[in-house]
Amino acid sequence: MHLPALIERKRDGGRLEGGEIHELITRFTAGAMPDYQMSALAMAILWQGMDAEETRDLTLAMLQSGQQLRWPAQSPERVDKHSTGGIGDKTSLVLAPLLACEGRWVPMISGRGLGITGGTLDKLESIPGFQTGLEIGVIESQVQRLGCAMVGQSSTICPADRKLYALRDVTGTVPSLALITASILSKKLAEGLNRLVLDVKFGEAAFMQDRPRAEALAQSLLNTAAALGLKASARLNPMDEPTGCAAGNALEVMEACTCLKGEGPLDLRTLVLDLAEELCPGRRQALQEHLSTGRAWEKFAAMVEAQGGRAADLERLGEIHRAPAILAVRATKPGKLTRLSARFVGEAIVSLGGGRQVASDSVDPRVGCDQLAKVGQQLECGDLICRIHAASPGAAESAAALILQGVELH
Ligand code: URA
Repeated sequence: MHLPALIERKRDGGRLEGGEIHELITRFTAGAMPDYQMSALAMAILWQGMDAEETRDLTLAMLQSGQQLRWPAQSPERVDKHSTGGIGDKTSLVLAPLLACEGRWVPMISGRGLGITGGTLDKLESIPGFQTGLEIGVIESQVQRLGCAMVGQSSTICPADRKLYALRDVTGTVPSLALITASILSKKLAEGLNRLVLDVKFGEAAFMQDRPRAEALAQSLLNTAAALGLKASARLNPMDEPTGCAAGNALEVMEACTCLKGEGPLDLRTLVLDLAEELCPGRRQALQEHLSTGRAWEKFAAMVEAQGGRAADLERLGEIHRAPAILAVRATKPGKLTRLSARFVGEAIVSLGGGRQVASDSVDPRVGCDQLAKVGQQLECGDLICRIHAASPGAAESAAALILQGVELH
């Protein structure tokens, strides 16, 4: 196989055959295709796109680049959710234990935050001792015992995606429908799922800012999942203001805990229940009861203990991760809150050290915002817009100035 010829064919709008895609991915994973050739190919795919068969073949080749989770015959339905990313979106932390309470198995493989979007692994790692790097066998046995595990992508699961995503991230080739679809679905298929719900965000802080692009991504994901025998459904959700009232790693775990106990912000609870119901049709009432009775909370606590954390620490995360500076940002005039931009909140959190500019950055679990006002709320002069948790008063002031650029009161 002559790699330059394949790159040229894609550059000129031609298509790649299944065998060629498989060979390309195999060589790339093995280090036998240099990064510069894969980068050129990724750029050609970004511009020329891939048809449904090519996207399916790419997904399959990436899935087959590594190991897959294996489940005994007759095991309960394995389910998961994938979100295209948001600010303050701690839904996964509530969803995995909630679905386990319904008897589903949830082998949730999540990612880290990059850019302004938060990552489930960073949030979980604000729980002292919590281990996200479990071996495949450990994940399988924990899920069989408890019903859920929340872990990171190990080097043996979809290694092709790990390598390709790192390359896309630095070559301007992330926003390709085919590449995003293959990246997301190869990892989800590696979990050995029966059913997947996709939470595709659109709006100013989303990956796909306008709704038609988000719809196109949802359609590409659904078509490819169907072609590979995975039952999937998609919900399009706005990402213009942060989800819930907290954003930032430890602050989000604390808010997720309130939701797991049947409390917390309505928008978060509604999103959790909408997504859970996609995976457990007709079970909304039962799902609500798992939250209000504390069953979901107990399941989460059991998962935390199983993965090296201590349930007791969940009650004192605020103390463990108390930020040195906490600044109240208040309305300077009365009015209805018509905008509180998730994009600006996300940028503020990155500036505070709570997010990553590059994959190797470490994150500060203490920083972020809480008590965020919600769009539609009537505020009086002096009412709280949010509190900023920062490493220093200066950092808090700068973050406040950024967040206020995205606030509109009328
Ligand atoms: N999330 C992924 O896992 N992969 C992408 O390509 C984009 C978002």
